[in-house]
Amino acid sequence: MGKMFLSHLTLSHFRSHHLVRLDLDARPVAIFGNNGAGKTNLIEAVSLFSPGRGLRRASAQDMARRPESLGWKLSGILNAPSGLHEISVTSEAGASRQVQIDNKSTPQTALASLTRVLWLIPAMDRLWIEGAEGRRRFLDRMVLSFFPGHAEASLTYEKTMRERNKLLKEQVRDAHWYAVLETQMAKTGAVIHANRVAALSRLHAAQSSSQTHFPTAELELTQSEGTMPGTEADLLEALQESRFRDMAAGRTLVGPHRTDLYGVYAAKSVPASDCSTGEQKALLISLILANARALSAEIGAPPLLLLDEVAAHLDAGRREALYHEICALGAQAWMTGTDAELFSGLGSRAQYLEVGDTSGASEVFLRD
Ligand SMILES: Nc1ncnc2c1ncn2[C@@H]1O[C@H](COP(=O)(O)OP(=O)(O)O)[C@@H](O)[C@H]1O
Ligand SMILES: [Mg+2]
Repeated sequence: MGKMFLSHLTLSHFRSHHLVRLDLDARPVAIFGNNGAGKTNLIEAVSLFSPGRGLRRASAQDMARRPESLGWKLSGILNAPSGLHEISVTSEAGASRQVQIDNKSTPQTALASLTRVLWLIPAMDRLWIEGAEGRRRFLDRMVLSFFPGHAEASLTYEKTMRERNKLLKEQVRDAHWYAVLETQMAKTGAVIHANRVAALSRLHAAQSSSQTHFPTAELELTQSEGTMPGTEADLLEALQESRFRDMAAGRTLVGPHRTDLYGVYAAKSVPASDCSTGEQKALLISLILANARALSAEIGAPPLLLLDEVAAHLDAGRREALYHEICALGAQAWMTGTDAELFSGLGSRAQYLEVGDTSGASEVFLRD
């Protein structure tokens, strides 16, 4: 089985980190250190090697090391089935991110076909009970791992929708203008929907074909009101029909941006939202692992996994099961925890980083 991992990572002026240079191998990366030491900041940096705003959805400016706020730079060497690639992500003071792959400037979305990054962070513990947006984002990150074009389709869809919403708000009645935008939205919206459907079927297959200690989640796409976009033609019709209602609302009420993800704890037939906190977390871990297995079969390597504080909330048995599955996948899983002891079950199967913040800046040490 192939590998996907960072063999080198440099952070410069990124959040609490002044300068960090790490040489790594393909094993999981266990990161420990006190609260506020800079562990999540480190894996946030890794998350920026995929399209989007990273695992905190922060602006480029927020990520610049304070008080200097001079901008920041991340660079990494990615070992992927397609070979070695040098990736750099830079933000000049206050400016948006610039991406280079192998020294060539590229749009951010180009990262999608190169790196695959999935994550779980503590804020997602409430994913099943909070609003649809978080679930949609979680879903789309998985979808993106299978379909790199999903990033571009989503950007185009959203940009076009913003233009349509502007017309709606300004009560513009030019039918031709709407038709142009709706045609574009229907086209990209249908792609988004089709990608999601296909990704769910891959996740479903990966969950049912594997022995795992984590519970199976049955997933379904839903939409509380309006039509669920199926084909391009359906969506186009729905948008046209919704124009009047949309104008009253000042925004677009139908389309894939309204889709929600409904999850059921399969063994118990209980909606994920009604499960215990621990069960809800286990469902997310299960999905991330299923995604990784499916991806491994599809592109020849598992994705990078970023699992923030994941070990703390698992009992010892589940923790061992997680480590076992990660090692069986051969994934470079970046895991954080306050206590090195949480990772003791990994032994030499992982590499260890200790993060401290003694001198007012985070410091990272490679430990045996
Ligand atoms: N832009 C920034 N510049 C400097 N420090 C920052 C910046 N953003 C966050 N921090 C600091 O980083 C620390 C939190 O780091 P974090 O990685 O979340 O810690 P943990 O090790 O608990 O995961 C906090 O002390 C916070 O003040
Ligand atoms: Mg943290």
